[in-house]
Formats: sequence, C-alpha cells, structure tokens
Amino acid sequence: MAAAAAKPAAPRPKVQLVWEPKELHRRDWMLVASWSLFALSSLVGTLFYVLRYLFPNVTYEPPLQFKAGLPTEFAPGRVDERFKASFGTWVVRNELGLYALSTVCTHLGCTPNWLEGEQKFKCPCHGSGFRKTGINFEGPAPRPLERYRIGLADDGQVMIDKSAKFQGEKGEWANPESFLYV
Ligand code: FES
Repeated sequence: MAAAAAKPAAPRPKVQLVWEPKELHRRDWMLVASWSLFALSSLVGTLFYVLRYLFPNVTYEPPLQFKAGLPTEFAPGRVDERFKASFGTWVVRNELGLYALSTVCTHLGCTPNWLEGEQKFKCPCHGSGFRKTGINFEGPAPRPLERYRIGLADDGQVMIDKSAKFQGEKGEWANPESFLYV
C-alpha cells in the first residue's frame, strides 16, 4: 500500500502583537482615579507610621533629683525662683536653714506666683494664698504646699529629691529630710 500523502500544514493564524490603545471612557477614568487615590492614601498612611516610628512622640520629664548649688548661694529670708520653671520647686531660706516647696497649688494644681511685695504665694486660678512657709491662708486651697526631700550631696551642694514629698497638714514637715539645717 502506498503511504498516505502528508497533508500540508495549515497556515498559522497571524497574531497581532501591537497594542492599540482604546479610548478611555468616563467609567475607566473614574476607576483609574479611585485606584490612584487609594494608592496615594496608602502611601501617605505608610509614610506617617514610618515617621512616627523614626520620631516617637516623647514627652520630656525633668529628673526627680537635682542639685541646686551651694547653701551659701541662698540669701536669708528669700524665695529662690531659679528652679521654678525647670523643676517646679522654690527653695526658701529662713533663719535656720533651707526647705524646698512644690510649685503645685493644692487646690487644683495651678502654679502660684511668688509676690515679693506681699510676701506670699498667690495662685492666679482661684486666688489661693500661701505664706512663705507654704501654709495656706486664703482662697480654696485645702492644705499647704508640699515640701520635697532636701539634703546635701557629696560635693556640698544642696540636693533636692522630688520623689519624696512631705505634707504639713499630716505633720510630715517634722521629718528631718524635709528641712536642711545649714
Ligand atoms: S488651682 Fe490654685 S486656687 Fe485653684
């Protein structure tokens, strides 16, 4: 038998590789716009978290202990305001020695002002007044200003420790750590 004649290969269909841009319709544009918006907001969100990670929101708290200088730097009878802004503390010298007063009003926590002419601390919020000792005598403040632990550091400087507070109305001003005899 004669072998069957091979059939000629069928011609391959021509594939057109040229992309012909179609005209974008309004719906397509809206799709592109919404995807772009989504991508942009994702990028901004990611950038925000990266920046928060790199620059964390840290609040600065002053140290609880600080040196206030030599005892001789405090004039007798004076309220020293050098540490009010930075450490929330007044250092007062009377005829016997030094004590450190908190600058937090015992009514609702505002910061009183020392009025040298009137020899008193006066709270600007509701008018409480405190004597140089810290004892309240006018306005709504229910108790004296608090005192902080005070002592001498190894180098002879006055050391104030705000982690220990002494409340006059509880008799804690009798604690030897609340007053520095110098
Ligand atoms: S907070 Fe000072 S008097 Fe009210």
